[in-house]
Amino acid sequence: MKLRHLVLGVALAASAGMASAVEFTEEEKLWLGMKIYERAAGRGCGTCHDVRPFPDLTESIKRLSKEEFLKVVKEGRPGTIMTPMAPQIMKIGLVEKACMTEEQALDALYAYLKGLSDGTVKGKVKKPKTLKEKLKGKCE
Ligand code: HEC
Repeated sequence: MKLRHLVLGVALAASAGMASAVEFTEEEKLWLGMKIYERAAGRGCGTCHDVRPFPDLTESIKRLSKEEFLKVVKEGRPGTIMTPMAPQIMKIGLVEKACMTEEQALDALYAYLKGLSDGTVKGKVKKPKTLKEKLKGKCE
């Protein structure tokens, strides 16, 4: 076996083991996270969370660890109207087109809300031009 083949084989094996071949920059994540917030469950998380007395997630995110926060997003809060949201998030057309894994989608959503909370994200995130190539829906 030639070295070239060996190297290619190792590279393929490494990428096959990864959850998704597509990687996103911080800017891309923030924009995708914003869209997930706006589109989850039809009208977005804000249908409830932008309305009091429901929890303001930019405050919740200061109190909860990332694990605790995402656990609620995945599993919901049993006995409340906060149902598991991850399945809803994975149904968003944009998430499908970007070939995001659940982990990537939740990570992007978290990064956006964290940014809003600590003030590094102000208002609308502009769509990064670099995303164009990544939204062609050509998933593996
Ligand atoms: C139908 C209304 C509704 C929608 C839509 C909704 N939530 Fe919730 N969510 C709630 C309510 C109500 C609670 C508080 C539950 C309780 O009493 O503990 C909650 C709690 C949470 C919490 C825990 C907050 C805390 O301070 O303990 C997180 C995190 C959360 N939601 C994230 C999300 C995200 C992210 C989305 C969108 C993907 C979303 N929710 C969509 C109603 C909703």
